Amino acid sequence: MADHPIDVAQALAREAGTLIRNASGRHRTVERKSAVDLVTEIDRAAEDIIVRGLHAAFPEHHIVAEESSPRRAGGSRPCWYVDPLDGTTNFVHGLPHCAVSMAMANPDGTIAAAVVFDPFRDELFAAVRGRGATLNGHPIGVSGAETLNESLFVTGFPYDRRQHAKFYIAYFETFILRCRDVRRFGSASLDLCYVASGRFDGFWEWRLKPWDTAAGWLIVEEAGGRVTDFDGSPYDPWLPRILATNGGVHTEALAVLAALPSSPD
Ligand code: IPD
Ligand code: CA
Ligand code: CA
Repeated sequence: MADHPIDVAQALAREAGTLIRNASGRHRTVERKSAVDLVTEIDRAAEDIIVRGLHAAFPEHHIVAEESSPRRAGGSRPCWYVDPLDGTTNFVHGLPHCAVSMAMANPDGTIAAAVVFDPFRDELFAAVRGRGATLNGHPIGVSGAETLNESLFVTGFPYDRRQHAKFYIAYFETFILRCRDVRRFGSASLDLCYVASGRFDGFWEWRLKPWDTAAGWLIVEEAGGRVTDFDGSPYDPWLPRILATNGGVHTEALAVLAALPSSPD
């Protein structure tokens, strides 16, 4: 019998994560995809491990992987979203905060299984739809915060931040005045998992890609949280805006977002 997708994903995420951890601090080639968007040979080597492993286990599945096949898949096959190294800027600077992120979507777009592995803390977040979310095998749940005033939020700034700095900083300014505090950690998949495990109460970001958010999306929802677009409509990982919270502060966060300008363009 074929292995369950979650078991395959966990094994591949651990293998790719070990490569990342062992490569930390060593000399590496850094290329620029844009002025501030970096990629290293370790991103590519980690992706190679995962893509080869998925092809071997599920030859009929489609794969959307950041460095080699970032385009949307049509058709009726299950689809994997793979970010081999989420947090490349941290990795390049020797900051031990990044993750391998993998999610398998059903043909209808719902996420069936998700894994986010932080090789530096040896923390493996996972979820299977309908079965809850776990951290290293133990169930996790979102925080109980009920107001932004008692909330710790996290966010990130997209790669067009130099072109639209004032626009994105207006969001940061508004949330930092309304929340207890706001962090910028540099790995969107871990930001989402930290909402799922109650370390953060909420997360918003512009212009993320499906490989950044698909896994964390399911992990937050299975941990009891809520994930939507900024207008409260259902989330879709190909959309440019994500709000993920513990659920308790979601309505208040949506009201904050509704009062901000809605497009940088
Ligand atoms: C990035 C990280 C970061 C977010 C960026 C992402 P990468 O992913 O998730 O936190 O702010 O927008 O692109 O490039 O390190 O895989
Ligand atoms: Ca990423
Ligand atoms: Ca990446």
